[in-house]
Amino acid sequence: MSRIPILVSALLIAAFGAFAQNGLSGIWLVNAPLPDGTVRQSFLQLSQDGDKLTGSVTYNYRKMDITEGSVNGNKFHFIVGRGMRHRTFDGTLEGDHLTVVETSANGRNTNRGEAHRSTEQAMAPPKPLPLPALHDVPYNGLARTPQMGWNSWNHFHTAIDDKTVREIADAMVTSGMKDAGYVYVNIDDAWQLKHDADGNIVPNKKFPDMKALADYVHSKGLKIGIYSSPGPKTCGGYEGSFGHEKADAEMYAKWGIDYLKYDWCSASAIYKDTDMQPVYQVMGDALRATGRPILFSLCQYGREDVWKWGAKVGGNSWRTTGDISDNWKSLSTIGFKQLAIAQYAKIGHWNDPDMLEIGNGGMSDDEYRTHMTLWSMLRAPLLAGNDVRSMSDAAKAILLNKEVIAIDQDPLGAPAQLAKTDGDIEIWTRPLKGKATGLAFFNKGDQAAEVKLTWSEARLNKPKKARDLWAHTDVKISSEGYAANIPAHGTVLLRLQ
Ligand code: GLA
Repeated sequence: MSRIPILVSALLIAAFGAFAQNGLSGIWLVNAPLPDGTVRQSFLQLSQDGDKLTGSVTYNYRKMDITEGSVNGNKFHFIVGRGMRHRTFDGTLEGDHLTVVETSANGRNTNRGEAHRSTEQAMAPPKPLPLPALHDVPYNGLARTPQMGWNSWNHFHTAIDDKTVREIADAMVTSGMKDAGYVYVNIDDAWQLKHDADGNIVPNKKFPDMKALADYVHSKGLKIGIYSSPGPKTCGGYEGSFGHEKADAEMYAKWGIDYLKYDWCSASAIYKDTDMQPVYQVMGDALRATGRPILFSLCQYGREDVWKWGAKVGGNSWRTTGDISDNWKSLSTIGFKQLAIAQYAKIGHWNDPDMLEIGNGGMSDDEYRTHMTLWSMLRAPLLAGNDVRSMSDAAKAILLNKEVIAIDQDPLGAPAQLAKTDGDIEIWTRPLKGKATGLAFFNKGDQAAEVKLTWSEARLNKPKKARDLWAHTDVKISSEGYAANIPAHGTVLLRLQ
């Protein structure tokens, strides 16, 4: 054998060996089609060293490091994140493409995708749009009292579709929710597919005809809401409004949409937090320009003191916190820190401590009554987040308590204040229309507690009449004050005249 073929073979073997050693190294774009017709895209930045695999996964412009990774022949396996939120990836390298299966921590969700080689450039978020000069977007006249309705997120997450929204609309009427004032039926994340070649936003397979759905909801005497983001992607990874703000607002108006929740999400990869006001103003202007009154609900988790500028961008409400979840810790942490900013909420422009969890099953009825009392004393939007089609009597009694709702919707729109704290007890008062006062007792403790308040402590005159809004009875009042036994995590709410 001559020397040349030996050399060539040796080189080939070395090159192949190196490839097998490092074949996965590089940037890969994974396209994973979902049943709703959308394609979930993520980037893998992999570095292979023999049977070791390190790197990261970038999804929605957020990078998560691989915590554990290995290669076995042409198969690989890695984990991203830790604990409850970790995700597992299993894949195969075939020629120069990958097949990847991504599994959620509980094993319930799997996405299958195909990946090809990509670039650093493709991973980068788009450049920010030029920011407009600040001006005041005129008030649209909506939400003269805090908005009331229902939203899909807390119960259904991304598993929401046309049929469910119609059934919820039906149930809003038959359950009495509509008569109690809950009129908005709001679709949260996961209704979008993409912008088409003409820049029109197109819903995914789960929402075949938005206009028909809006007509249906309107035919029930209800209003309909939708959801988007100033970023290219929503928090759930669906199409946002970045660069399409005007066209999206026009499409919403064309469909007959009455409400937009606008969620910061991936805008954080493009803009600075200090750009939030002009970025929200763009959509505020776009909604106004449609000529259709569309309630504008800001969702940027209470950053940048939004309560100081939310009204200026045309906002009817702004989230003041991160996401609520259906447990006492989340509820009490959010609820009891809202008083400090209560004075910023005004008629037409409300603080929004997030949607209601009442009826979702993670809290006791006492805790859910505290939820409703807090939100009503705070003049918060009341957006039920449960499955209205199958409400328990207990959930109904809480959400449909008209006397408590009347506190939330009181036309005076005056803020609550802290009257007294005593250990785990907080007592709040709030001036109501017609020289009435709302008086709320909260027990944050894990034991029932006897609570006393003198009228002078609360800077109140002895009322003529007091009504317990959860017991639905008038109560006796002494000339000194009021004493009540409050269950653990519970509440007593009085209307004083
Ligand atoms: C964010 C919001 C939630 C919900 C989800 C949807 O987390 O704060 O209320 O809209 O996005 O992805």
